[in-house]
Amino acid sequence: MESFRIEGGTRLSGAVRVDGAKNAALPACIAALLTDEPVVLHRVPQLRDVSTILYTLGALGCRVVRHGEHVSIAAGERLSEEADAYSVRQMRASFLVLAPLVARLGRAVVPLPGGCAIGLRPVDLHLDGLRALGARIVERDGVVVVAAKRLVGSRVVLPYPSVGATEQILMAATLATGETVIENGAIEPEVEDLVTLLGRMGSEIEIDGRTIRVRGCTQLRGAEHTLIPDRMEAGTFLLAGAISGGDVTVEGIRPDDLASFLRPLESTGAKIVATADSIAVRGPERPSPIGISTGPHPGFPTDLHPPFAAYLARSTGTSRLTENVFEDRFVYVDALCNMGARIARSGRTLTITGVERLRGGSAAATDIRAGAALVLAGLAAEGQSMVTQLEHVDRGYAGLDEKLRSLGAKIERYAD
Ligand code: EPZ
Repeated sequence: MESFRIEGGTRLSGAVRVDGAKNAALPACIAALLTDEPVVLHRVPQLRDVSTILYTLGALGCRVVRHGEHVSIAAGERLSEEADAYSVRQMRASFLVLAPLVARLGRAVVPLPGGCAIGLRPVDLHLDGLRALGARIVERDGVVVVAAKRLVGSRVVLPYPSVGATEQILMAATLATGETVIENGAIEPEVEDLVTLLGRMGSEIEIDGRTIRVRGCTQLRGAEHTLIPDRMEAGTFLLAGAISGGDVTVEGIRPDDLASFLRPLESTGAKIVATADSIAVRGPERPSPIGISTGPHPGFPTDLHPPFAAYLARSTGTSRLTENVFEDRFVYVDALCNMGARIARSGRTLTITGVERLRGGSAAATDIRAGAALVLAGLAAEGQSMVTQLEHVDRGYAGLDEKLRSLGAKIERYAD
């Protein structure tokens, strides 16, 4: 087990380069199952979740070669129909192997992913989508067995623009007979990046608003693709600059991907300067209070809700934050309150009454973004803070402490 020890009170300054997006890397690696030719990905972040998915693909029979940020995946001819139970249960995104396996092999056996600290996270929309394309699905002892001689294109209306369900149905549709139309699909930048990769592999996909049309084909080819930058990592470092009253620039980013985050950040009094591929923030002494509501893209991203709440804890007034995507993404709130924050919850809405200062405390990370929120609070708190159970943080942030130290933060990682 590893922990961070953080000495608060330092104004961060400097520039940090953002990695490739975790939530683009995971579906992109899985898309390699759709062809027997090699798929080469660049700017692959060196994260625990990426190691998990590459392990899962290797266990299915793929040849995986990784050199730093470059990964080659060749799914060859002899793929297994059964996904490794341990890794799928470790990481929900592994459930996306279902569509490519059933599309290529006609059958797939994948364990149902468990819930996690932010909610039950069912996969009913994934399974309904595959049924709409003609798959027969049997659930037995926590495992789904999916079979389809040939998937057939269809119209799928998503009751909620689920990122994972959209990616699952997209990948199945690429090798289905005929056209598939996904209505109310997710249009997060990471989904669009998957569409770009599938296009390079030979699939014809059009996005019009939330309607996604996929023309099925009989086979896809290998491709080479560079992943988009990680907007959640970028947002986290911008908040680290803002919460510490410092000057931080994130480089190698696409500012448009963060528009719905930058507007509220600016409303708190942070000074933002964006160029084509960088964003600079100068934090206020204390942020002004604001109201935030998370939602599917292009709404405020749910993954930046916990870090933003930590930032608002020191505001000069009362802020409100409503979480509309996950039913229970508030586990981190108690830990922030133990550091002096004044946060009350009512249903899906937090009321954050700003305080002048936070005091150092100790807390365990419970999920990737909750861990990030605790680190940010530690940067702003007086005295020393500890963040434990870093395995959660390392799933979504590569070298978070090194990058923060390069900005002047007093943060050390040590084994418990
Ligand atoms: C993706 O998760 C991301 N993960 C999440 O990032 C992100 O928070 C989320 O999208 C929302 O943007 C990856 O891309 C690997 P959803 P996903 O399906 O696909 C409900 C991080 O920290 N739902 O859009 O699981 C679900 O319970 C992670 O990087 C169903 O009810 O998100 C949730 O309330 C956390 N049935 C809502 O939809 C389903 O079949 C949004 O889920 C699927 C989802």
